[in-house]
Amino acid sequence: MKPLIEGLQIAIDGPAGSGKGTMASQLAAALGLPVLDTGLLYRFAAWQCLQQAVAVDDEYAVLNVLEKALPRMQWRSEGVFFDAKDCTSTLRGEDVGLAASKVAALPAVRRLLLDVQQQLAKQGCVMDGRDIGTVVLPQAHVKFFLTASLRERARRRWLQLDEQQRRQRSMDDLVKDMTARDTRDSKRQHAPLQRANDAIVIDSTTMRPDEVLDRMLRVLQRRGLAH
Ligand code: DC
Repeated sequence: MKPLIEGLQIAIDGPAGSGKGTMASQLAAALGLPVLDTGLLYRFAAWQCLQQAVAVDDEYAVLNVLEKALPRMQWRSEGVFFDAKDCTSTLRGEDVGLAASKVAALPAVRRLLLDVQQQLAKQGCVMDGRDIGTVVLPQAHVKFFLTASLRERARRRWLQLDEQQRRQRSMDDLVKDMTARDTRDSKRQHAPLQRANDAIVIDSTTMRPDEVLDRMLRVLQRRGLAH
């Protein structure tokens, strides 16, 4: 399938484990567009702080770390590179994810990363995150909001863990962490996780990825944005 307009922007938002990363990649591949995972940017900021032993709730210190690190970072469809080295798999760790949700609550960090996201989106892309449809790309041509039950989202996260991680974390731990992250992401004051009024909601609890993809592609066709 091909986009029918240049610079097509598709926003996908949703809570952790809702399948937005998987669906963003599959949709982007189906359309030949770049995919931009904005969670990686907050994870990158958190990882830098963890490495430099900077408190992730100290707004001024986090901003300082991020401003210095950003010129050495490259954010691409394939992931995030630091000094030309791919650090995506490190960023995907659970500890970095939890720290990222604290960093993401800092307004100065969000302001700095907003510009990075908007600049890269100009070329056209599928972008996934928490505030893409509401704040980053309010003019996106199509917005999807993915959801799934808490238990199903925790189960999906568990499947992504390796053997060693599974020995350390139970499903109950994951449910607890996910609930904490959901609360922080949706209750924070700045750009909380929120469904845009014009977003199409897809509950993927009982859907396979190919079914979700099919639904998304049909929306694009119906709106004359792809064929
Ligand atoms: O999607 P993720 O798990 O990789 O995101 C990591 C954290 O970053 C998550 O707790 C919320 C935050 N985030 C955000 O606040 N806004 C975004 N656009 C993307 C992620």
